[in-house]
Amino acid sequence: MTDRYLVIGNPIAHSKSPQIHAQFAQQTGEAMVYERLLAPLDGFVDSVHNFIEHGGRGANVTLPFKLDAFALAEQRSERAQAAGAVNTLVFERGRIIGDNTDGVGLVRDISVNAGVAIKGQRVLLVGAGGAAQGVILPLLEQAPHSITLCNRTQRKAEELVQQFSHPALQACAIDALSDVYDLVINATSAGLSGDLPPLPAAVFGSTTFAYDMIYAAQATNFMQLAQSHGAQTRDGLGMLVEQAAESFYLWRGVRPDTAPVYKSLRAQV
Ligand code: ATR
Repeated sequence: MTDRYLVIGNPIAHSKSPQIHAQFAQQTGEAMVYERLLAPLDGFVDSVHNFIEHGGRGANVTLPFKLDAFALAEQRSERAQAAGAVNTLVFERGRIIGDNTDGVGLVRDISVNAGVAIKGQRVLLVGAGGAAQGVILPLLEQAPHSITLCNRTQRKAEELVQQFSHPALQACAIDALSDVYDLVINATSAGLSGDLPPLPAAVFGSTTFAYDMIYAAQATNFMQLAQSHGAQTRDGLGMLVEQAAESFYLWRGVRPDTAPVYKSLRAQV
């Protein structure tokens, strides 16, 4: 039987993962199928067990099930533990292993695809929800000078900083931000509703690289704001492709070439 994978979520119709993994499989000659599965909101665990019984080898997990996947996993990678969420499941020898590839996807898109080194940089991470938490450990592993975490609800930023307890990670109130940052990463969901975190102009300069973890056909509001202050910008489409590539690698032991996949997705967005 051909090895089976899928992405599980609710809703799921919009997911680009089947298309991305089909291209990876074709490119690398891996014999596998990758589908999408709409799980009932109260039926995540049953859906996963059912998939395993029918030959499932692994799964990507998306909203709203990343915490359920974390709870379901019998073994978790360090980066899944730090993220507090699982986006990749590996079914191996009767065990369910949970990992999280979002953070490494972001790091690779910034450092490899955009060619912006993170080491030694002053990083401003905006947001303190699941998306922000998921990228903190992989960013810290790049040895930035510092990561400043800010959030509309400041208490949540402070709690995250406490949880990681790393000397390079600190919280700052949004209205107290006064420095220019080398790298500003938007990990809020504000842009999904056409909104914008209220960042002071001072955080952007002509040498700032501003990264929005969401993506769109045009520059997002956050990217437009950053551009208006002279910053270089990039959206999160490359992160989407890179996190998928890391999942593919976990399952198949093969690293796909992400560049052509990014190109074809970009043409469709
Ligand atoms: P995700 O998993 O995408 O991070 P989340 O856990 O709901 O989703 O977190 C959403 C993040 O976006 C939070 O940091 C949230 O700020 P609050 O903690 O203050 O709610 C942020 N966010 C959402 N809408 C926003 C807006 N309009 N302006 C600023 N921040 C916003």
